[in-house]
Amino acid sequence: MERRYVRGHYEELAAEYDEHWIYGPDYVPWMSGRIADALRLGPTDRIADIGSGTGLFAREVAKQLQPRHPVLCVDPSEAMLRQLGTPPPADLTPIVASAEDIAEGRTRLPYEQLDAMWLKESVHHVADPARTLRGLADRLAPGGRLLVVMLPATIQYPLFEAALARFEELQPDPVVIEEHLRAAGLGADLSHVEHELRIEREKYLGMVRARYMSLLSTFSDSEIEKGIEEMRAAHPEPVLVFPDRFAFVLGRRGGRPA
Ligand SMILES: C[S@@+](CC[C@H](N)C(=O)[O-])C[C@H]1O[C@@H](n2cnc3c(N)ncnc32)[C@H](O)[C@@H]1O
Repeated sequence: MERRYVRGHYEELAAEYDEHWIYGPDYVPWMSGRIADALRLGPTDRIADIGSGTGLFAREVAKQLQPRHPVLCVDPSEAMLRQLGTPPPADLTPIVASAEDIAEGRTRLPYEQLDAMWLKESVHHVADPARTLRGLADRLAPGGRLLVVMLPATIQYPLFEAALARFEELQPDPVVIEEHLRAAGLGADLSHVEHELRIEREKYLGMVRARYMSLLSTFSDSEIEKGIEEMRAAHPEPVLVFPDRFAFVLGRRGGRPA
């Protein structure tokens, strides 16, 4: 997806982002717990959330982990990072930078090396994932872990047909991301986590109208309205129930942690 377009999308969405993503009270703690488990996070780890957005998950990970070093929240969108709070909480450090800026060394992090980092639903915004993931992997300490959390190549969301088709066009395949991590010299492994979403139909239609997924920004207002009509006809039920499935692609650098 075109860069400027993506930036504009998140600048506009920033203030409402958390509202759209908190489907229910359990979602953020559940996902944050899965991320912390997969990365085997410990309180002394030096951690970064790359493409952290508003820090929704970093905040919860920090709450569960009580890290000794602040979790670095890296995102190119200042508007998204501003949602961390002013000033940000002591256990989170915002850094305005893209994954590429970190990978290429254009932005230096406060930690020489990282023990763990994750990219949750941000890898699809990276122009050259093979190169960028290699650059990020190079920032890992011995024994360091890198987790890519992403939607699978196909999803079962109750969206209109054209949106589902465009998702499949744009979404990178987790298997290819796993290959990139191997090529970057990491031991890599692909697994999935899933939970059931229950969301009032009218709330979900409002999220679609607000273009809660960046792919929806590729549709005009009239295409979105037409899509919403299609969704209304296909889903007369007042509460939409559908699986939310995520690929977890985990890479691990060899060697013993210091
Ligand atoms: C779907 S949001 C996910 C935010 C957060 N990880 C979450 O799960 O709530 C995607 C985020 O990726 C960020 N982003 C866009 N391009 C990026 C890039 N090249 N490198 C890192 N992050 C990027 C956007 O600014 C946005 O905050």
